[in-house]
Amino acid sequence: MTSTAWNAFWTMLPAEPGAALWDSSPQLTAAQHLPLFRDHVDPLLPLVDIGCGNGRQTQWLARHFPRVIGLDIAEAAVELATESHPAPNVTYRCADLLDEHAAAALHTELGDVNVYMRGVLHQLVPDERRTMLGTLALLLGDSGRLFAQELTERTGWYVSELLASGQPLPKTAGLAAHFDFGARVAPAHEGQLRLLFERNGFDVVADGEIALHTTENTSDGRPLELPTSYLVARAAAPH
Ligand SMILES: C[S@@+](CC[C@H](N)C(=O)[O-])C[C@H]1O[C@@H](n2cnc3c(N)ncnc32)[C@H](O)[C@@H]1O
Repeated sequence: MTSTAWNAFWTMLPAEPGAALWDSSPQLTAAQHLPLFRDHVDPLLPLVDIGCGNGRQTQWLARHFPRVIGLDIAEAAVELATESHPAPNVTYRCADLLDEHAAAALHTELGDVNVYMRGVLHQLVPDERRTMLGTLALLLGDSGRLFAQELTERTGWYVSELLASGQPLPKTAGLAAHFDFGARVAPAHEGQLRLLFERNGFDVVADGEIALHTTENTSDGRPLELPTSYLVARAAAPH
């Protein structure tokens, strides 16, 4: 997905909290993730939130790390995050994490960092995923660790069936229209997110299944939760 498409998405999105399907409360999101990676990371390293969007999770994470940098390809998201989710130890910047030179410059500036990434890889085609895994390894260096929550094939099937059921799910349907969400190939075949990382220079230290809480309700009034995967990984030492 291009920066133009993401900019259009963030520019058109209504300003109220929860307008994006994935814009769930940090209590249901980053606060559920932190226990999954806290014991694996050096808490004194900066944390980079890649594809930070409106910064809602970034701001919460800033309570737990000395310095947090939210990066997003969309200038409109960076502006929104700066206005709506500030914190004294957070800065937001526009950067394309498919750009290896930008990643190398960041590593020179910040040193090794921890990375938080929620829902970014699934929008990339396979070649771009490999490129992004390369830039992530650059950012982590020897001592950083990565937490990622990602959509999988199962998420795609789940969303397709939901939409086919005819339930009124305007946010989910809107995303499907804008991004082909639920119809594109998800980042990894079922159970293969770990392999994707392992084949591209990472040691996976933890992984599992986890719900992605959304801001939409199903027709029975329950909050829609999507099945997704997470992992915690470090860049493998070169052999
Ligand atoms: C599904 S949203 C998730 C936002 C945020 N992580 C959250 O959980 O609220 C994906 C975000 O990734 C950003 N993004 C997509 N491709 C990117 C890239 N190549 N480099 C940096 N950010 C990117 C998009 O602009 C978008 O804000």
